[in-house]
Amino acid sequence: MAEFRIALIPGDGIGPEVVGEACLVLDAVGRRHGHSFRYESVLAGGCALDATGEPLPAATLKTCQESDAVLLGAVGGWKWDVLPGNLRPERALLGLRSGLGLYANLRPATLHPALAAACPLRADIAALGIDVVFVRELTGGMYFGERGRRQGKYGLEGYDTEAYGVGEIERIARVGFELARKRRRKLTSVDKANVLESSRVWREVVVRVAAEYPDVALDHMYVDNASMQLIRRPSDFDVCVTTNMFGDILSDEAGQITGSIGMLPSASLGDPGKPGMYEPVHGSAPDIAGQDKANPLATILSTAMMLRLSFGLDEEADAIERAVTAVLSSGARTADIRLAGDAAAPIGTRAMGRLVVQHLA
Ligand code: IPM
Ligand code: MG
Repeated sequence: MAEFRIALIPGDGIGPEVVGEACLVLDAVGRRHGHSFRYESVLAGGCALDATGEPLPAATLKTCQESDAVLLGAVGGWKWDVLPGNLRPERALLGLRSGLGLYANLRPATLHPALAAACPLRADIAALGIDVVFVRELTGGMYFGERGRRQGKYGLEGYDTEAYGVGEIERIARVGFELARKRRRKLTSVDKANVLESSRVWREVVVRVAAEYPDVALDHMYVDNASMQLIRRPSDFDVCVTTNMFGDILSDEAGQITGSIGMLPSASLGDPGKPGMYEPVHGSAPDIAGQDKANPLATILSTAMMLRLSFGLDEEADAIERAVTAVLSSGARTADIRLAGDAAAPIGTRAMGRLVVQHLA
């Protein structure tokens, strides 16, 4: 029987509730398929600040580095919003990304047929379907570049630097091409090469890497145009590779056009063999924390990505995704994905998690 060690970071807000349901689903899959998952729960984010004075205690990072994968709920909340930049819960996320070398962030945005009515786009556009994966570079660019404050022409100025190196672009481009190869063989690289030098290098490198993937159709799009095309013709996108900042912004847009940010999973990956980190795209939602209202499906779908990408358990991952689809088809809805006019009353976090367990084939 295979045993997998999972570092759990329930975190803040609704994090503990959604992670709890995801573990129940994992355990049920383990029982059916003969795997066991051993969890070690660690602190990060606001709860870590309260308990230890730092958003990412060294012990947390160490446990994560020594595990097979990391499952994270959410970090942050109003309580800690007033703290200076280096003491914000968000530092924990950035520290985990750099500390675990997680340079590739995969964010699929799909329109579930049962939730098609939640898509805010025109019906004829939604009818073409949405199935795009953002491959966001996660440990470089402006989020990790040189920054500071200095005297400028207009007085004190703050600055952040965008820089991308060839090796950094090559490895993320390869993640994009490899993924496209397993899907519809179409890769869109998003940059701002009409203005930024870092983008011109980005584009040159992506074009060079493309020579290794003649079977994948590559196109390039400026980020402003990409943000427009995403809502004009989302069905044209398959895999989209881009920088840390552009990916941050565009993946939120892609999430919103599927109508339900509460449904979106993500995976953050480093070099093969290193632990990946899996987390829902939604945040800590402090307004509904502890009320059994959060949608656990994004976290549950993140565990499916974990099984597939970190543990190579494709069949088990498919089983989770099929169960989620079946639960949605049955009409079950948490409040965030319920539309005005839906017949049934919304259900809670726990009820939704348990329904997924019941629907596991
Ligand atoms: C995300 C979030 C984070 C980011 C924040 C919370 C640091 O917006 O994961 O997209 O900017 O990367
Ligand atoms: Mg973001």
